[in-house]
Amino acid sequence: MDLEIKGHIAIVTGAGRHIGLDIARELAREGARVAINDLFAERAEAAAAAIRREGGQAMAAPADVTDLAAVRAMVDKVVSAWGSVHIVVNNAGIPAPPAGGSEFGTRAEPVFLQSSPEEWRRYVDVNYYGMLHTSHAALPHMQKQGYGRILGIVSDAARTGGPRLAVYAGAKAAMVGFAKSIAGEYARFGITANCLSLGAFIHQDIDATWGTPEEREKRRQMFMGFYPLAKKHNRLTLGSDAAYAVAMLASRRSEWITGQIFSVSGGFCMAG
Ligand SMILES: NC(=O)c1ccc[n+]([C@@H]2O[C@H](COP(=O)([O-])OP(=O)(O)OC[C@H]3O[C@@H](n4cnc5c(N)ncnc54)[C@H](O)[C@@H]3O)[C@@H](O)[C@H]2O)c1
Repeated sequence: MDLEIKGHIAIVTGAGRHIGLDIARELAREGARVAINDLFAERAEAAAAAIRREGGQAMAAPADVTDLAAVRAMVDKVVSAWGSVHIVVNNAGIPAPPAGGSEFGTRAEPVFLQSSPEEWRRYVDVNYYGMLHTSHAALPHMQKQGYGRILGIVSDAARTGGPRLAVYAGAKAAMVGFAKSIAGEYARFGITANCLSLGAFIHQDIDATWGTPEEREKRRQMFMGFYPLAKKHNRLTLGSDAAYAVAMLASRRSEWITGQIFSVSGGFCMAG
């Protein structure tokens, strides 16, 4: 199926590695021109270069999404180079704190009271303010052209909550509320806003903190127990799972879908 995003201009935040990079790659494969945002310029440059080597069109667009002026400058840079912006994928986020294993099993001991206001602010700044900033900078261009796709990468914790995840879950839930509201306000301009809610994606950096190979395997099996599809496929969430779903929602084909939250998490969250 032709998703009809060839030539569309996309910005993916936090796309220097992992899930964001997989999303950017997939959009580039579908023919979109992709601006790779990341806090770290060298990550953004390396990711953009990798996509260009694979035959895609990509530019590095580093900026701190918590800084509105920097985000405006980044969007201006993309628009000056390529003429507009059609798709914004708000992927930059501070990962959830690692799930705890303790005498309480998977329901680890309470941690909110030990967390600091600085930590809370960081989660809210990157996850939620990041999306406010990119939307505020990109919406005028989308409005002018009568077309736009705004996506938020969230977590099932936004709907289910989760022990140790209070602040993260709250920040992700704020993204969902924002997307639904923007979806209503800007529908008349052909702009849609949706969220993708992911299950655990255990990349090497996370896995490396899990101790010996035996401990890592035990932890992986524990996680797999949460996901109905995990045993069948012997895996957890992959970046490609997120990427395919983003490509569909970022496409012209999804013009009748807005204000929704979709779980891409092997059946972990079946909330309506
Ligand atoms: N990994 C998981 O299990 C999981 C599960 C559900 C949802 N998610 C969400 O998916 C998204 C990507 O997760 P990931 O595991 O690939 O994360 P990651 O930490 O591996 O990558 C995130 C990228 O965002 C960048 N970034 C951080 N702060 C930024 C800022 N202020 N401005 C611009 N870029 C910034 C980082 O430099 C990094 O390259 C996040 O929003 C995360 O909350 C992840």
